Amino acid sequence: MADLPVPGDARRVAGMFGRVAGSYDLLNHVLSAGLDIAWRRAMVRALLAPGLPVGPVLDLAAGTLDVSLLLTRLGRRTVVAVDPCLPMLLAGKAKVGDGPGAAIRPVLGDGLRLPLPDASVAGATIAFGIRNIRPRPDAFAELARVIRPGGRLVVLEFGTGKRRLWGGAYNFYLRNVLPKIGKLVSGDDEAYRYLAETIREFPDEGTLAEEMRRAGFHEVRYRAMTGGIVFLHAGVKAL
Ligand SMILES: C[S@@+](CC[C@H](N)C(=O)[O-])C[C@H]1O[C@@H](n2cnc3c(N)ncnc32)[C@H](O)[C@@H]1O
Repeated sequence: MADLPVPGDARRVAGMFGRVAGSYDLLNHVLSAGLDIAWRRAMVRALLAPGLPVGPVLDLAAGTLDVSLLLTRLGRRTVVAVDPCLPMLLAGKAKVGDGPGAAIRPVLGDGLRLPLPDASVAGATIAFGIRNIRPRPDAFAELARVIRPGGRLVVLEFGTGKRRLWGGAYNFYLRNVLPKIGKLVSGDDEAYRYLAETIREFPDEGTLAEEMRRAGFHEVRYRAMTGGIVFLHAGVKAL
């Protein structure tokens, strides 16, 4: 079996997502039993909660634009959707249409070098993306650079796969079932092994919250969803 891409190797990771872009949305829904839709919606509501400054928002690791679309529908914001993977952005663009989705500006870019000026967005989302970017503290520092003081960052990500959940059934699913279904539907051997592996090695929620604080976010809070399979973190860029 070939070595998996290393998170942070944006070129290779984006290449891998490019190969599964056509089946990405379907697999998301199948592998999470449709829960991914509620998880993203909760994140978008957390970003748009009262207190968010006016102005455009960033959707980092935007992929096929599901979060960007929710941001325009629920928040009527202009969304800068940044991702280094062109096929993912193009798959998203194909479903955006002329409605509120027209306020989405897809931009090819890397989370470590955002193509945005300092303090230029009111807030940012990153859904199932922070796992792919290393070093993570640099990614958080870059997000802190572009979010204006008082603005908000929300992070949706799987909890660490090191913790046993549901009597170990979830961990068995991660290791043995998810990569097989992923390969069957997408035809790609690497991408869903990479998913399982990066979830397993991801830090716990307390560590992630501390990394956000160190990058200059305060009022950092998190909550578990679906029994700790996924965590939603939110913080406010210090004034
Ligand atoms: C699992 S997908 C998540 C997509 C979308 N946010 C969602 O909720 O479905 C992860 C995304 O991270 C992107 N990505 C990988 N490396 C990145 C980097 N260095 N900076 C920004 N995005 C990156 C991939 O191209 C991919 O589209």
